[in-house]
Amino acid sequence: MTSQVLRRNLLKSPVFKMHPARLCLRLAEGKMKYCLMKFCRVLCLMLTSPLRLMELTGLYGVYRRLFPFLAYNVTFSYNDKMHNTKRELFRNVCRFANADGSLRLLEIGCGSGANFKFYPDGCTVICTDHNPHFHRYLRRSMAANTHLTYGDFVVVSGEDMGQVEDESVDVVVCTLVLCSVRNVQRVLREVRRIVRPGGAFYFLEHVVSEPSTWTYFFQHVLEPLWYYLGDGCMVTRATWRDLEAAGFSEIHLRHIDAPEVTPIIRPHIMGYCIK
Ligand SMILES: C[S@@+](CC[C@H](N)C(=O)[O-])C[C@H]1O[C@@H](n2cnc3c(N)ncnc32)[C@H](O)[C@@H]1O
Repeated sequence: MTSQVLRRNLLKSPVFKMHPARLCLRLAEGKMKYCLMKFCRVLCLMLTSPLRLMELTGLYGVYRRLFPFLAYNVTFSYNDKMHNTKRELFRNVCRFANADGSLRLLEIGCGSGANFKFYPDGCTVICTDHNPHFHRYLRRSMAANTHLTYGDFVVVSGEDMGQVEDESVDVVVCTLVLCSVRNVQRVLREVRRIVRPGGAFYFLEHVVSEPSTWTYFFQHVLEPLWYYLGDGCMVTRATWRDLEAAGFSEIHLRHIDAPEVTPIIRPHIMGYCIK
């Protein structure tokens, strides 16, 4: 593009059409909103300091035991709201089956097994999660979804799945997990290691909102509290950037607003990457 075209496009942008006074007002408003956001976040951080202390002293571990029970119950409502979205997400998962029709799928952070009903008949599912206390609820979902075959439940963190062999599965799935892991890039490296060439990684994750929105404002303000309620869940991650940088050969990614879900986690990304 020549510099003249660039200049013409720039002059057409709404910012340049705005009266200078209005532009200054907008900038001042933006700056004020940003300062307010930072101030409220610090307040929220201060309010959650007892929780931080509990985490440091190991007392928060009690909540970690309780979390699977809460997550199991919240999952029903989330799954109801996201039923059509999840159906659409896993619609073409059979495409990654082998010539004999077999499909080995590994879920990272499977939780209580909320996705089982969306997987195709006969698929073998290997469940992994770093929290062993999900096992009880996982067993209930397994009993309710007899159309699948299950491997052992592997208690392992997504960042280091050394127990899982290289290129040993056709599909890897993460739903509402990349928000909570400590290191998204390391998890994606592990995904690329364990999925076979031509296999796929399916994801459905809540992400940070557009900076101009109130959702973005409240995501930043309430994150310190949400982190503890959601067992390490961060609401300000731009996970699509990590996916784009992870080195997959194809990415099919869509930004969506999850219907009826709590506003702070409404912006989602969904799709799949091919190795
Ligand atoms: C909000 S729950 C989602 C559970 C399930 N995927 C679903 O869609 O209902 C987040 C899950 O990620 C798991 N998790 C968080 N960090 C993890 C990590 N580093 N490695 C493995 N699992 C992790 C949690 O234990 C929990 O089961």
